[in-house]
Amino acid sequence: MTDATLTESRDEAKTAEWWRQAAVYQIYPRSFADANGDGLGDIPGILSRVDYLADLGIDAVWLSPFYPSELADGGYDVADYRNVDPRLGTLDDFDAMVEALHARGIHVIVDIVPNHSSDQHAWFQEALAAGRGSEARERYIFRDGKGPDGSEPPTDWVSVFGGPAWQRVEDGQWYFHHFATEQPDFNWNHPDVREDFLKTLRFWSDRGVDGFRIDVAHMLTKDLTEPLPSRAELEAMDSTTGVHPITDRDDVHEVYAEWRKVFNSYDPPRTAVAEAWVATPERRARYASAEGLGQAFNFDLLEADFDAPEFRAIIDENLAQSRLSGSSTTWVLSNHDVTRHATRYGLAPLRGRDVKQGTEWVAAGGPADMLDRDRGLRRAKAATLLLLGLPGSAYLYQGEELGLHEVAEIAPEQRQDPAFFRGAEFDGLGRDGCRVPLPWSADGVSFGFGSAPAHLPQPAWFADHAVDAEAADPASTLSLYREALRLRHPLQTGETLEWVETGRADVLRFVRPNGWQVVTNFGTEPFDLGADAADVVLSSAPLAGSALPGEASVWIAPASLLS
Ligand code: NOJ
Repeated sequence: MTDATLTESRDEAKTAEWWRQAAVYQIYPRSFADANGDGLGDIPGILSRVDYLADLGIDAVWLSPFYPSELADGGYDVADYRNVDPRLGTLDDFDAMVEALHARGIHVIVDIVPNHSSDQHAWFQEALAAGRGSEARERYIFRDGKGPDGSEPPTDWVSVFGGPAWQRVEDGQWYFHHFATEQPDFNWNHPDVREDFLKTLRFWSDRGVDGFRIDVAHMLTKDLTEPLPSRAELEAMDSTTGVHPITDRDDVHEVYAEWRKVFNSYDPPRTAVAEAWVATPERRARYASAEGLGQAFNFDLLEADFDAPEFRAIIDENLAQSRLSGSSTTWVLSNHDVTRHATRYGLAPLRGRDVKQGTEWVAAGGPADMLDRDRGLRRAKAATLLLLGLPGSAYLYQGEELGLHEVAEIAPEQRQDPAFFRGAEFDGLGRDGCRVPLPWSADGVSFGFGSAPAHLPQPAWFADHAVDAEAADPASTLSLYREALRLRHPLQTGETLEWVETGRADVLRFVRPNGWQVVTNFGTEPFDLGADAADVVLSSAPLAGSALPGEASVWIAPASLLS
């Protein structure tokens, strides 16, 4: 091999592995930008904001579902996997958006929802019409009910959003839905289902999509051989055996091995990231293997308090885990399913998402008088700088770059999330508060989101976070994100870190292989950086001399890295 071919092949490898330490920005399309003035964000809206995305400095966008959908679960109820919801645009609009993003060096990841379809999907409608015992019903999970007249569901299982996991249809049979009633689960033992998803992956790959985010990747395959266990028996089962009836089964990896062949038939290979809520790091690593999806979400920081020992333990564990899978890890503080991190950090300490204080939920924005907005945002910026300094890829959620808080002030009749209506103990108020359309300008009918009122109400305080106001302010959250994402490119280095002892339990400091350092002060007492203060290239709050204030982070880098 000549030097030239060696360099070329290294470059190719670099291209194929673009995802390993990418900063990926999640777009929730219906709430990003509305180009046609119907109150719903759309694909032309995204196209109109490509410059904004390029200026932000991200490496990729991940689009939550934009497919035809009755919106029973914000688009995660897909009626047609190979099309664009007419309210959001056309396939031509999609192609134009991909082309514009690629032209700015931004990769495109789309969401694939393989566990369930919408009840409006042609196959489910066919299954309903064809009746019991038909071939068409085999693509889903239909069963007869219990009791003399079959009027009781086959089991007492509950759905993730609350309420029974079985729904009765007109002829008396029942179908299984892990999520909302409008989201019937597919039968992954059926060859049509397997074949159709391969077709879908090829369809989007052929249109130039670079990667896929796989919704509830651990749930697809099931063993529903009779007799089915009761809810209590199901919940008592060990989910790490690989043979649990409905979750994290070993046989799901046969599906992903087939998908991998499709991904690898493209140049560069298409990437995938699994949303897999499984019990152990070892079980998660299987989804991230090179023979499988290649990467899996790590939600540990998203579930953690703003707490130095907790962050350090999570970072160590996940870096060890990525060594196990050969993949890179993923860091997430916010997404469309959880309370925004600026708000989480401004509330009383939480453990996970299921915290109640008395009868009051605090995890989903909580009563406004319990929220310390400034403190929450201060901590959020500190945590984000830490996250962007870690080895691995960083997933950012639209609006966090504006320092948005969760919107708590949405009346019940304006809410859309099925988790809210089905009474699931799922972040209390449901997930609408993090899905409110973005403010692009400080005024206008929907703060520049579009020319009509937005589909979820935007509070007056959104004006303070509008893109136009923040873009003009060097001290804004947006300016901090832009600078961090800009600097992250020249600073990026090998996928390891070493901890540097600080003598303080509430201050974390680590150094990357090239000398790039991150220091985060989780406490409230200032931390003296000494002579290193001269090499600070970015800070989430102004330093006082050489002192890093409480609840703040800095990046320290030798000048040579940036020259
Ligand atoms: C996970 C998605 O992130 C969430 O928004 C959705 O409700 C469920 N999967 C069901 O598709």
